[in-house]
Amino acid sequence: MSGWKYGDEVPQRSKEEEERERIEISLLLEGVYQLYGHDFRHYAFPSIRRRIWHRVHAERLSTVSGLLERVMHDRSCLERLLNDLVIHVTEMFRDPTLFAAFREKIVPRLKELPVIRIWHAGCATGEEVYSMAILLYEEGLYNRTRLYATDINEDVLHIAERGSYPLKKIQEYTKNYMLSGGKDTFSSYYTAVEDRAIFHPFLKEKMVFAQHNLVTDRSFNEFHVILCRNVLIYFDAYLQNQVHDLFYESLGDPGILVLGQKESIAFTKRSDHYTVLDGQEKMYGKVK
Ligand SMILES: C[S@@+](CC[C@H](N)C(=O)[O-])C[C@H]1O[C@@H](n2cnc3c(N)ncnc32)[C@H](O)[C@@H]1O
Repeated sequence: MSGWKYGDEVPQRSKEEEERERIEISLLLEGVYQLYGHDFRHYAFPSIRRRIWHRVHAERLSTVSGLLERVMHDRSCLERLLNDLVIHVTEMFRDPTLFAAFREKIVPRLKELPVIRIWHAGCATGEEVYSMAILLYEEGLYNRTRLYATDINEDVLHIAERGSYPLKKIQEYTKNYMLSGGKDTFSSYYTAVEDRAIFHPFLKEKMVFAQHNLVTDRSFNEFHVILCRNVLIYFDAYLQNQVHDLFYESLGDPGILVLGQKESIAFTKRSDHYTVLDGQEKMYGKVK
């Protein structure tokens, strides 16, 4: 491929090369889907392209077709590619202002319910779920809540289930907790053991972890709140609409949808089915 050096992020291309690359990427994603059942065909192209090239370089290959051949015949290469394609970055009380707004605007509505069901879709390693458990505990709601935490990736779910996070992250998480309106001392929720912060088992009591693919799996319950933050940003418009159908069908009354800071319900086909509860914090209420 002209203009490409090993180590370059993405190669420079002519129009013809661009078209060839687009076809190669779509063949790779089709192959991954047909052979292994992982469907990335409607993930946002610029990001998926960057990640595929990262894997091409890391495998010391020079074309996407080369990667396709390797992935088709070598499952371990598929695993490496999957790790590149899906981003699991997360943190406790990520975007603390969202948790502060949740306390102020959503908690009073949840207080009226006898049981509360919350779905964390794309929970990654679970930090968001533990944050929500702490918030609801402090608001006296945790006993009547069930937190459903799902992700496409089983490895991250195992980490989430353990509730043990690197101690070196705790300073940042404590700051987030305080900014989010935390009412207690953050250190009262975990025990430091060597280099890990192990969150207290009572926080796990109301959590259910399960593998769920937003692209291929159906709804599995009716929820009062769905948080799906920093997941849809990786999907194209077609897939976002499909997932918004799933969320709409999965929300009850009240039905509150919380998206990531860079995401929005606007311009999706479900935009008219929600009112904006907090535009800044991307909190939406299902219209009955
Ligand atoms: C960047 S993390 C977001 C974690 C958390 N929600 C947050 O905002 O901090 C994105 C997560 O979405 C998951 N994901 C990606 N595609 C998915 C799909 N099709 N179905 C379910 N989860 C998916 C990834 O495995 C990853 O753990």
